Amino acid sequence: MAPAILSGILLALSISQSVFSYDSHEWIAPTASDVRSPCPGLNTLANHGYLPRTGMNISITDILDAAVAGFNIGPDAIIQAAKFGLLSGNAPTTLDLDALKLHNLVEHDASISRNDFALGDNLHFNETVFTTMANANPGVDFYNATSAGEVMQARLADSLARNVNVTNTDKEFQVRIRESAFYLSIFNNTLTGVAPKSWVQTFFREERLPIAEGWIRPETLITAESLTPVERLIRRAQTWTATQPCEPVVLGPTITLA
Ligand code: HEM
Ligand SMILES: *[C@@H]1O[C@H](CO)[C@@H](O)[C@H](O)[C@H]1NC(C)=O
Ligand SMILES: *[C@@H]1O[C@H](CO)[C@@H](O)[C@H](O)[C@H]1NC(C)=O
Ligand SMILES: *[C@@H]1O[C@H](CO)[C@@H](O)[C@H](O)[C@H]1NC(C)=O
Ligand SMILES: *[C@@H]1O[C@H](CO)[C@@H](O)[C@H](O)[C@H]1NC(C)=O
Ligand SMILES: *[C@@H]1O[C@H](CO)[C@@H](O)[C@H](O)[C@H]1NC(C)=O
Repeated sequence: MAPAILSGILLALSISQSVFSYDSHEWIAPTASDVRSPCPGLNTLANHGYLPRTGMNISITDILDAAVAGFNIGPDAIIQAAKFGLLSGNAPTTLDLDALKLHNLVEHDASISRNDFALGDNLHFNETVFTTMANANPGVDFYNATSAGEVMQARLADSLARNVNVTNTDKEFQVRIRESAFYLSIFNNTLTGVAPKSWVQTFFREERLPIAEGWIRPETLITAESLTPVERLIRRAQTWTATQPCEPVVLGPTITLA
């Protein structure tokens, strides 16, 4: 096909967005007017056009569809976080990614790649904060549940030492474990059964899918059920005690944390 005709078709497809949304899903850095979140997962989905590249006016179904398309993560693994996310703003059915920095909604202390709210910028990736993760599991080129648990414990120790206002209840612990289980599951190499550091670091540092580095989208759906054994290993690889109790947190008809 002649290039001119091909580009004409592509142009037509991109113009007719209301009928058919065309996006090549290549990685494009956010523009100055685009907004991003403290979440490397949602940001990666936006940088690849699985979520609106503006980062604005995003619905729950946008998020659920994007998670399957980009990561093969199923709705049941993220729907609670997504619904909580709506409380970050006033729109009835959508959210803007930057609003997710709202402290102690989903955003929490002792992150892998962001500062605590009381210590500075809790929104953007910070290489100094990420040093613990970058240096974890020395001597091998992968992360696993053991290193994930160790990173969580080290990051919490740093927050406990430096942040007199640290929030560290069961809620934050469970959210943090799930986040670690996400990167181990998404970037689990089918050949080795572990997550290559280079893929995970590209995801955190560039908020990019490491396709050029050899990653392929997981073939089986990542679900709450598939994450559970991974989460158990991550939990067992650290010692943890709550700094504060948390009120019973009702997450749905069948799940209550107390
Ligand atoms: C789509 C699949 C998702 C993946 C793969 C993912 C992955 C992650 C990871 C790995 C972190 C840890 C970042 C760190 O500790 O530095 C994180 C943090 C976060 N995620 Fe997601 N996430 C996903 C979905 C969601 C959803 C649906 C929401 C809510 C609308 C959300 C909101 C957040 C927020 C607010 C943080 C910041 C927590 C903090 O570090 O303070 N994420 N996510
Ligand atoms: C988001 O929705 C608001 C109204 O709810 C509108 O003013 C704004 O232009 C929309 N932004 C985008 C990027 O669609
Ligand atoms: C801790 O929180 C209190 C009350 O919100 C505030 O006055 C204080 O400045 C905070 N301290 C730090 C180090 O963030
Ligand atoms: C990154 O985090 C470190 C450690 O908390 C802090 O000293 C530094 O100011 C942060 N950098 C930026 C650009 O926020
Ligand atoms: C993770 O990797 C380290 C380093 O090779 C190893 O000692 C540890 O047993 C591994 N953990 C799991 C759960 O396989
Ligand atoms: C990675 O895949 C292997 C099988 O290839 C599986 O045994 C292991 O549990 C998976 N790990 C994670 C974190 O999903």
